[in-house]
Formats: sequence, structure tokens, C-alpha cells
Amino acid sequence: MDFVHVPVLFNEVLSSFDNEPAVFVDLTSGGGGHDAGILEKYPDVRAVLVDRDQDAVAHLREKFASFPNVTVVNAPFSEIDKILFLLQIPKVDIVFADLGVSSFQFDTPHRGFSMQKDGPMDMRMDKNSPLTALDYIKSATEGELRMILSLYAQEREAGTVARTLKRCADEGMTTTLQFAEEIRKAKKYAKKGIDPSTQVFMALRMAVNDELGELEKALKRAFPLLSDKGIMGVITFHSTEDRIVKNFFRDRRNKVPFYVGENDTVPVCDDASFSVDMLVPTEEECSRNPRARSAKLRILKKG
Ligand SMILES: C[S@@+](CC[C@H](N)C(=O)[O-])C[C@H]1O[C@@H](n2cnc3c(N)ncnc32)[C@H](O)[C@@H]1O
Repeated sequence: MDFVHVPVLFNEVLSSFDNEPAVFVDLTSGGGGHDAGILEKYPDVRAVLVDRDQDAVAHLREKFASFPNVTVVNAPFSEIDKILFLLQIPKVDIVFADLGVSSFQFDTPHRGFSMQKDGPMDMRMDKNSPLTALDYIKSATEGELRMILSLYAQEREAGTVARTLKRCADEGMTTTLQFAEEIRKAKKYAKKGIDPSTQVFMALRMAVNDELGELEKALKRAFPLLSDKGIMGVITFHSTEDRIVKNFFRDRRNKVPFYVGENDTVPVCDDASFSVDMLVPTEEECSRNPRARSAKLRILKKG
């Protein structure tokens, strides 16, 4: 399998993780690009590489087969507390996440993420999860679709697009190109140079994979596992997910307590001091890798 993905903010990630870690956890390992850098910088680190995509996991197992210090786990990252409990790892020095989809996922037509290449309306990162994008469109009400389009993509024509999505499904359309073409025809406004279906596909992908729910759970469950010199680093690509990370890090720096556990009943408040930082890609990186354009690396450092 040819797994192509250029890691964004690579140098910034490596230089931010400067705490000589004993344990490193990547919640979104993907093509393992950042991980290769971490393993080169810290060859003895115990690395736990998580991804819920089975293709990514197969690739990672092959890529890091000769590393006895690497464990690859196929799971949603919201289960980070359970994963580390089962691996008998009580504390972590670095928790890293590079959110969203990989270029491999996006560019593989049968995964159904692309509005340029034909494939089924699928969009699941985890092929075992029950709901494809088409199932989601069929089962959601027009109002629910309108809401996720407004909330996740700030889509100003959310009503029109929601109606179009429902109509396409009712008429038996099943493929990405069919849906993308109908969205393009239905929308009056579009940003210059951007395919009008881009934001719609992104909102559907976020809903199908419960991306914001996963992120909120992972942040809350990973934070109590940080060691005394722990660092969390998250790369976001989208204002809604970025706000979640920014507010979470700010609240930890300000020692605001929060709750975790099965029914959010276990209070967490860490008395250590924390600093926060935010880095963006250089002009040079953005021109080399346009995918980096909207990226932000948010860092929370303990101690
Ligand atoms: C942007 S890519 C990561 C690329 C990686 N940093 C690299 O250098 O190759 C994001 C990856 O995170 C995975 N992912 C997204 N949400 C996830 C979740 N909730 N749980 C586990 N993996 C997730 C995706 O399947 C994808 O492979």
C-alpha cells in the first residue's frame, strides 16, 4: 500500500517536544510521519501509535515493524485512558494529535472523502463503524443536516444544501461525484477558487466520525495521564475544533476543574503550573504544502 501524507508543522512539532520523553503517545498516527521524526530524535522512547483507520494501522505496523519500543493500536482516540490502562502505562510525557483526515484517506476514492474522485458516499475513518455518510444523510432529518452544516462548516446556504442532500438520497444517488455535482448546482454563493462542495463534505465527515465529540473526550481523558513534565500538542485545521483545544488548554492553565469518568462524575484539577503556546506554518511550508494553510499547533506544557 502506498501511503502518501506529508506531515504538517513537522519541525515545530519536533522542537516543541523538548522534554526528553520516556513515553510518547500519538493519537492520530496516520502515515507515521511525525512519529518517524520523534523516534529519530528520541530512539529509546516508548511510543504508542493510535489510529482508528485500519489501512493506516496496517501501514504503521509495517513501517515500524523493526521497532520493539513501538505499539500500534487500532482504536478511536477517545479511548486513550483504556488503551494506556491495558498497556500498563500510568503516565505519559507527550500526547500528540494531528486532527482530521490524512491525504491517503482523502485521495483514495473508495473511502468516499473526495468530491473530485468518484467513490461511495462513505467517509468513515473506521471501516467497522456502522454509519456511512449516505446512511447518515438518510437517517438525519433535514433540520439536523442544516444544523451540522451551519455548526461545522458555517455554511450560509445550509437550508438549501440540507434539502439537496435529502433529495439526492431519496432519488437513489450513492456516489461522491453525484452528490458533489448536485451541491455545486444548488449553491448560489461560493468562495473564489474553492469547490462549493468542499465545506459540505467536511461537515458530513465531521458528523459521520463524531470528530468534535472524539476530540473533547480525548482531551479530558488524556490530560490526567500527563507526567510532571508532560506536554500535549494538537494540530487543528478548522476553527471549531481549534476553539475546543484553545479553550481546553486555557482552562488547564487557569486551573479550572473539570469532570471525567463514565458519567462525568470524577473531578480533575491539577495544581501544577501550565504554559500554553500556538504555532502556525511558515509561508514556505504553506507554498510547499497547501494543506498546511489552515493548520495551528497548540501546545500545553506542564511544570
Ligand atoms: C492528519 S492524519 C495524521 C497524519 C500523521 N500525523 C502523519 O504524520 O502521517 C489524521 C489521522 O488521524 C486519524 N484519526 C482521526 N480521528 C481519529 C480518532 N478519533 N481516533 C483515532 N484516529 C483518528 C485518521 O484516521 C488519520 O489517519
